[in-house]
Amino acid sequence: MAEPVRIAVLASGGGSNFQALVDRFSRRDTPGRRVVGVIASREGAGVLERARRAGVASAILPASTDDDRTATFLLRTLAGWRSEIVVLAGYMKLVPEPVVRAHWGRILNIHPALLPSFGGQGMYGARVHRAVVDSGARVTGVTVHFVDEAYDRGPILCQWPVPVLAGDTPASVGARVLAVEHRLLPAAVEALASGIVRLDADGRVRWSREWFDSERFFNRED
Ligand code: GRF
Repeated sequence: MAEPVRIAVLASGGGSNFQALVDRFSRRDTPGRRVVGVIASREGAGVLERARRAGVASAILPASTDDDRTATFLLRTLAGWRSEIVVLAGYMKLVPEPVVRAHWGRILNIHPALLPSFGGQGMYGARVHRAVVDSGARVTGVTVHFVDEAYDRGPILCQWPVPVLAGDTPASVGARVLAVEHRLLPAAVEALASGIVRLDADGRVRWSREWFDSERFFNRED
């Protein structure tokens, strides 16, 4: 059997998206995928405890404002795990350009809104859902996009809508969005790992035709 596709995660928070990836790719029916490690941007991040319980390797980014030092640490750690796909799951720092370049087209981010709306620097966590509720928007959602050198700007791989209901608070919207994240992120990573979506040289997202033509998308149980 071919070597499993090796998936590394970068996170800063509780790690529920990391957990969704581990749950999805550690099942017996997914021998071709493996979450090989998580890099936390700070000590004490809840994702580290999840990694320990799941038996997944972890590393902690050294506190440094020096981009080169951060880039060197990330590149060395990801190379050490022979990472093929890198997933930012609640990672609160900008990814240094050398890391983006080294993993161009193989590094994804998940954002809890329909980018480009409600995205960009400073738009994270409850702030996003507060802005959505205050805007009166009736629909928000989840975005998975390829990472480039800016926050939340890279080419979009997929999105899923989430309704905003009367009486919603940022917390109730956030919970509804997070539940969708936990399904959309593993599906997006699987699409990239299986090659039915890719980022081509000029930065356009290419989905394979047979995926859309097949009934699989609408009938699949993932
Ligand atoms: C998620 O809402 C994700 O969209 C955002 O940060 C949050 C991370 O949550 N980027 P968790 O740490 O995965 O629970």
